[in-house]
Amino acid sequence: MPQLTLPGLIDVHVHLRVPGGEQKETYATGTAAALAGGVTTILDMPNTSPPTTDASRLAAKRALAAAEARCDVGLFAGASTDNVDTVFRLAEEVCALKIYVSTTFGPLRVADWALLEAHISHWPAHKPIVVHAEGPLLPRVLLLGARYGKHIHVAHVALQAEIEAIITARERGAYITCEVTPHHLVLTVDDIRHLGPWGDVRPKLASPADRAALWHHLPAIDCIATDHAPHTIAEKTSANPPPGLPGLETMLPLLLTAVDDGRLELARLIELTSTNPARIFNLPRDPRTSVEVEVGPRYRLPAQGWQTKVDWTPFAGYEVAGRVLRTTLRGTHVYEAGHVLASPGSGRILFGQQVSTSTGRAKRYG
Ligand code: DOR
Ligand code: ZN
Repeated sequence: MPQLTLPGLIDVHVHLRVPGGEQKETYATGTAAALAGGVTTILDMPNTSPPTTDASRLAAKRALAAAEARCDVGLFAGASTDNVDTVFRLAEEVCALKIYVSTTFGPLRVADWALLEAHISHWPAHKPIVVHAEGPLLPRVLLLGARYGKHIHVAHVALQAEIEAIITARERGAYITCEVTPHHLVLTVDDIRHLGPWGDVRPKLASPADRAALWHHLPAIDCIATDHAPHTIAEKTSANPPPGLPGLETMLPLLLTAVDDGRLELARLIELTSTNPARIFNLPRDPRTSVEVEVGPRYRLPAQGWQTKVDWTPFAGYEVAGRVLRTTLRGTHVYEAGHVLASPGSGRILFGQQVSTSTGRAKRYG
């Protein structure tokens, strides 16, 4: 197959670790990885240290992102046990509210159902609420969302039971969108045998039957998002390795392999990685923002030499049929032939007011 040009990808689920986890990733390194992966907009999760749970932390994070980001960035607000009366005031400054119902990396968790209900009821209906709610917790969360007429976006659907719960709740009229990760579409629990801690992630890699159900129900899935969750090699090989995988640079090679194999239509890939994410999170798209790829020649993904600061991938040695050749942001070449060309601070911070860019101009983005 030939060289193709796609719209720049929008990844709605990324952890860039600033502040507090700069040894894992920074805005400069994480957005370089994004551009190398053909991703031109990322939505950055709130489970940093400290987490993004109030106005001053959000402002501080926005300033750090504005100084260093090389692609466009939207920020999440995080629901916590002590911000139920305040976090909804941040709605216009962020892409969405993130609620961790299940346990995962970091301290953010809303485990109390009354508190969860209060968070859902207070958040404005026109902005998504992104939930990390696994297995049997998910139907209860979907019911709460429907009760208050809110838009629930389900992060990283991994199980057959989860996608079926989403389909059922939608049939009853609930407003639900959802995403899957490349790793849940490609890997299963069987891969843990050779991956060990490198394959440890939340939600955990699931069964081959669950993976098959995600492919079977792909028409019901709105987005593919990486859940890029970098941890250092030292952390992953420690006695207590944290869960999470980097994914920004491997998503497009893996998805283009599915296209080459005839398992995914190219038009559907574009919907899942650009059109739908933009619609769901109300993100700008620009016809001058694109990624040129090559599909066909097979090669093995390298173990190292990645832009992500942690410089590893669970897909090392994996044979793929897609490669990013060049990424263009608003008409400017920002990645080409292995080199990131965009400078830190050249990306835009989406939502909210008055972002000052590296050029020193104050701009307003909506
Ligand atoms: O594996 C994961 N790692 N799942 C999550 O939900 C969080 C993430 C992280 O931040 O490391
Ligand atoms: Zn995540």
